[in-house]
Amino acid sequence: MKKEQVANCQFSVWYPIFKKHTIKSLILPLPQNVIDYLLDDGTLVVSGSCCSFPNAPAAHTNNSGSEEEEDVQWSDDETTTTVTAPEFPEFTSKVLEAINALGGSVFPKLNWSAPRDANWIALNSSLQCFSLSDVFLLFKSSDFVTHDLTQPFLQCSDQDSPDPLINYELVLRKWSELIPGGEFRCFVKENKLIAISQRDYTQYYQHILKQEEHIRQAVQEFFSQHIQYKFPDEDFVFDVYRDSQGRVWLIDLNPFGEVTDSLLFSWDELLSGGEITRDHQDGPSFRYTTSEVTVQPSPCLSYRIPRDFVDLSTGEDAFKLIDFLKLKKSQQEESEDEEEEEETAPQ
Ligand SMILES: Nc1ncnc2c1ncn2[C@@H]1O[C@H](COP(=O)(O)OP(=O)(O)OP(=O)(O)O)[C@@H](O)[C@H]1O
Ligand SMILES: [Mg+2]
Repeated sequence: MKKEQVANCQFSVWYPIFKKHTIKSLILPLPQNVIDYLLDDGTLVVSGSCCSFPNAPAAHTNNSGSEEEEDVQWSDDETTTTVTAPEFPEFTSKVLEAINALGGSVFPKLNWSAPRDANWIALNSSLQCFSLSDVFLLFKSSDFVTHDLTQPFLQCSDQDSPDPLINYELVLRKWSELIPGGEFRCFVKENKLIAISQRDYTQYYQHILKQEEHIRQAVQEFFSQHIQYKFPDEDFVFDVYRDSQGRVWLIDLNPFGEVTDSLLFSWDELLSGGEITRDHQDGPSFRYTTSEVTVQPSPCLSYRIPRDFVDLSTGEDAFKLIDFLKLKKSQQEESEDEEEEEETAPQ
């Protein structure tokens, strides 16, 4: 996979070509100060969409209860400014305008990636955003978004060639309730559709099994009519959604290579080509999960914080909280014992 191929899969490259066949979206250039804010680990604080707290006190004042406070002077100006949410009035109003134009709620992305690994942090556990602060919270919590910003060409084979110039963009897509069983990933090699995989492979969907041939044909037809030869590259991966009326929509374009999840295929198979085309003579090979037995945990699970942390922080599980406090207490007692031992130890 070459850097050029990755650059071609940016949203702003493919969207104008396939606009008619995908979800309505708006692209806003990301100002440098917003990029800096997204990359800054120190400021998770996000200001509200309409109001802010310019004189908000530092988040870490006064919780140590120690007598040293006066010496340390937590409340000096420098400390205060580091935790105050930054303001981007012009950008904020552009984003709000775009969200309104898209019906009031959006699915956010950067040039390539959505913050799929961060949905657990949102109040609604979803990527549905109603304001810029919703978007910021997700973006700042997402490794996928950081990857776009810091190392988009990491896995490219032509590391010695210069990086293509990237203009970072915020992509806002009209929020659409997509049923996961209707999503498929399609692999194109030398402008030929070689493979289709169920996208949400952790679940078994009976309708896919029943409609296998329909789905294969619908996707193949969509590809030949609307996608084939229209994209600047001959190898790529595209994602589609087949709605309840059987109509196929384009969801995303991805590079043909390891950065893209190959789902129910392996990159070895896809890159060698020959083997997989054989399991269906005149069309793409189509793989889907065929029984409950193979159901697996959600792929983004490892990005979440442990369930115990959530329960403790929300105070939802009183027993866990009690166990936690007991643990703390016994640890404290242990360390006190150790101190005592040290004190009484012979010199
Ligand atoms: N406009 C939308 N409204 C609601 N959900 C959406 C929308 N667009 C995409 N999704 C959901 O989010 C998922 C991820 O979207 P998308 O493929 O654009 O992200 P991505 O970061 O490129 O993912 P990947 O890394 O797998 O390529 C989709 O599979 C779909 O379920
Ligand atoms: Mg993608």
